[in-house]
Amino acid sequence: MNHLLEVDNLHVQFDTPQGPASAVDGASFHISHGETLGLVGESGCGKTVTSLSILGLIPSPPGYIKADRILFKGRNLLNLSSEDVRKIRGREIAMIFQEPMTSLNPVLPIGRQVAEPLIAHKGISKAKAFKEAIKWLDYVKIPEARKRLYDYPHQLSGGMRQRIMIAMAMVCHPQLLIADEPTTALDVTIQAQILSLIAGLKEELNMSVLLITHDLGVVAQMADRVLVMYAGEIVEEADVMSLYDRPFHPYTEGLLRSMPILDKQIGDKLHRLTEISGIAPCTTGLTQGCKFADRCPFAFPLCSEKRPELLEVKDGQRARCWLRDYPEKRRHHD
Ligand SMILES: Nc1ncnc2c1ncn2[C@@H]1O[C@H](COP(=O)(O)OP(=O)(O)O)[C@@H](O)[C@H]1O
Ligand SMILES: [Mg+2]
Repeated sequence: MNHLLEVDNLHVQFDTPQGPASAVDGASFHISHGETLGLVGESGCGKTVTSLSILGLIPSPPGYIKADRILFKGRNLLNLSSEDVRKIRGREIAMIFQEPMTSLNPVLPIGRQVAEPLIAHKGISKAKAFKEAIKWLDYVKIPEARKRLYDYPHQLSGGMRQRIMIAMAMVCHPQLLIADEPTTALDVTIQAQILSLIAGLKEELNMSVLLITHDLGVVAQMADRVLVMYAGEIVEEADVMSLYDRPFHPYTEGLLRSMPILDKQIGDKLHRLTEISGIAPCTTGLTQGCKFADRCPFAFPLCSEKRPELLEVKDGQRARCWLRDYPEKRRHHD
């Protein structure tokens, strides 16, 4: 019960020229203290919108949030003033994004940007904040940090910019780090370095991490528990080993199969690339049935008639799939 973050029944809609479109459709989940929760799914399934909702960063209009509650350390963020939410953001919940250039200020030297949250949130003097900034730049392995303080973002490589973002996120010692595709734009070696940096910080500071990615390899490496999202819904939830060992939802199975082999241990269980056929549905006007039904190799009539609930299938693993009640409908033909 005593989770760091608890999201209950989150709905997010956007006004579009075609009418209201649902981006997140009843998502409920929690993050425990010190846990890394992976959130995976194809592009457009609602991952970023979910994380921005937690931080109160969905622009309205065109976006509208509805939820039973979003509890952070027992406080319902939905009932806080925007000023109070702003204080939590950056200080207690920090976020890093795929593309650091969108969040770094191009005309401010990086030292100033890393020191800024301390000055703004904690009222620390400039001199002290810069000292702390150097410490964090060292920590995230920016070579010769002291000399780099006056560099501008464009003078740095993509990997270095992502390190700066992490330093900025960490200066106030957040309890929750939301990392949205933090390594997607980076090449593989740099990606591995950034992931191990995040993992190290998490251990050291006993922080919780919400790791958003479309890459199941990243999740396998980093997460304790995983949520699989499809068309705005959580369709499966499991600890990371169970998910790779015995995925329940046909969508999760498809995702795992479409992943290039990442690791011998997991790779043995997987076949190489069978793309999930079909495309992710547009979420306007879908009211009944399972959203994955028209792409699902096992779909039977009930699937397009009635929406399945997210229910336990085994030892805390949960899936939103009628195969839970009708296991005989699962027939592998490969
Ligand atoms: N500002 C917006 N206005 C309209 N639609 C939006 C807006 N932001 C996101 N969406 C829609 O919400 C859905 C989920 O997007 P997003 O959360 O960014 O997906 P993901 O991060 O999983 O790739 C998409 O269909 C996207 O087009
Ligand atoms: Mg996204």
